[in-house]
Amino acid sequence: MKAVAIQSFGSPEGLAVIDLPDPSPAGGQVLITTEAIGVAGVDAMVLSGALAAYGYKEGHILGGEIAGTVTAVGDGVDPSWAGQRVWAFTGPGGGYAERAIAPASTLVPLPANVSAVDAVTLGSSGMVAHFGLRHAHFVPGETVLVRGAAGGIGIMAVQLAVRGGAGAVAVTTSSAERGDRLRKLGATHVLDRSGGGGEDAPPAYDVIIDIAAGADLPSFFTKLNPNGRMVAVGAVAGFPAADFGMELFAAFRKSMSFATFSADTVPETDRRAATAELLAAAARGELDALVHEVLPLEQAVMAHRKMKAGEVFGRIVLTPSGS
Ligand SMILES: NC(=O)c1ccc[n+]([C@@H]2O[C@H](COP(=O)([O-])OP(=O)(O)OC[C@H]3O[C@@H](n4cnc5c(N)ncnc54)[C@H](OP(=O)(O)O)[C@@H]3O)[C@@H](O)[C@H]2O)c1
Repeated sequence: MKAVAIQSFGSPEGLAVIDLPDPSPAGGQVLITTEAIGVAGVDAMVLSGALAAYGYKEGHILGGEIAGTVTAVGDGVDPSWAGQRVWAFTGPGGGYAERAIAPASTLVPLPANVSAVDAVTLGSSGMVAHFGLRHAHFVPGETVLVRGAAGGIGIMAVQLAVRGGAGAVAVTTSSAERGDRLRKLGATHVLDRSGGGGEDAPPAYDVIIDIAAGADLPSFFTKLNPNGRMVAVGAVAGFPAADFGMELFAAFRKSMSFATFSADTVPETDRRAATAELLAAAARGELDALVHEVLPLEQAVMAHRKMKAGEVFGRIVLTPSGS
């Protein structure tokens, strides 16, 4: 089968298409013939080498989120999964391939009217956004700012905050055109990080969902209301300065909270249930999957070039040539 592996960390050109024998599922696993493979922000971070300390090595096959058909099941797996079209999470990687292994415990049947491409665009992103908002103790009526809203997780955080009854949903993004697209999803205010817009935005928020982090993160503490909560769910702009916590102490009397959130702390059964509910909501037409572009698996380098250039609004999805 064809797969895409990291030959060298750094740039997108470090990816290469290779031939591998089909993997076979161990106990508790299934083999999936892939139809759609999500290209996530975290894949770009792994490819850059930034997460090497977490055990990622050269030779690694990227790809956590896939959809396709179960073609074999390992020991202990309900045989009725065979032949079913599913959404799945591979775990550490292996998804950029014509066939991939996933734990059976992650499988969600694809609703009939949700495409594989849409499923990998909103499944994992929506789950992270859902639990990120919950981690922030978001309740209806509160004002929300989504920082890094134009990516997979941000787009879902905007839609879920709107659906959850937010009083206002502001976003940061890098162009007026992206701002308009986010307004169509329900965003009420746009803070254009390229310099324009945002004049009418609320001065402060009850909840900030932050996918960007980076050196600018502490400057957003001043945008929290008293008792406001900021939850970092990603770090596409890198990490803040080591002493960033002093800016929280500077506003001690506002009782603000800062937290990180990783879906790794959510029990797998809850993650799977949330993903199933998100796919069902998409099937009912209540959530939009923002697919930037669908590219052949062999063009994973192109996909990552576009990510690196900041061209992607939503998700790029890879499809193997056979599907
Ligand atoms: N918490 C979890 O469990 C979990 C799970 C999966 C992934 N993650 C993390 O989530 C992040 C990826 O999220 P994603 O897939 O939504 O990312 P993404 O698709 O790459 O989008 C991130 C968005 O952030 C904006 N951005 C980029 N650089 C920025 C900067 N310097 N300052 C402000 N905004 C910037 C960009 O939009 P504009 O240019 O329009 O602003 C971009 O579209 C990674 O850090 C990953 O590790 C976390």
